[in-house]
Amino acid sequence: MIKNQTISKILVSEDEVRNTVARMGAEITAHYGQLDKELMVIGLLRGSFIFMADLVRQIKIPLMIDFLTLSSYGDGTVSTGDVKVVMDLNSSIEDRDVLLVEDIVDTGRTFSKVIRMMRNRNPRSLKVCTFLNKPEARIAEIDIDFCGVDIPNEFAVGYGLDYAQNYRNLPYVGVLQLD
Ligand code: PRP
Repeated sequence: MIKNQTISKILVSEDEVRNTVARMGAEITAHYGQLDKELMVIGLLRGSFIFMADLVRQIKIPLMIDFLTLSSYGDGTVSTGDVKVVMDLNSSIEDRDVLLVEDIVDTGRTFSKVIRMMRNRNPRSLKVCTFLNKPEARIAEIDIDFCGVDIPNEFAVGYGLDYAQNYRNLPYVGVLQLD
């Protein structure tokens, strides 16, 4: 553990991570059923990379993946609301069924901006999915189609989520306490 930093509480255990991802994969599989073209699953980097890797293995229909990299909060713990595209998608989403994948929806600013951006590219359908949801922190209203776990308004790390780029590799989600 890094000096003066401790995981004070577990929010989502490894078992709960596994069960949640399996449940979400089943929901997504059932929702889409048979599609003419592969489902396009788009992950928002960097936070979503672990969830995305686990989730796609639980979706039992043909799919393609792509990633979008957005600017981060820097090393702080609060959202600035300033979101910009650092690396765009590789492929066109026009007339495709698109599923956007986030690790966490906090204020909702990131997702609402990305949803707007993706809608302008005329996908056939657009659904959004997040592993973690912090309803108490919401500023921008968004409809989440597939949601993993609601968590309280505390600073969560692990399972892809970072603090100053650390802790993404924790296999569970915990609350980071700065002493
Ligand atoms: C985190 C997270 C979401 C966003 C959620 O990304 O991955 O994209 O914040 O917060 P919001 O709902 O308040 O907008 P971050 O900018 O920390 O970058 P990262 O994905 O590289 O961790």
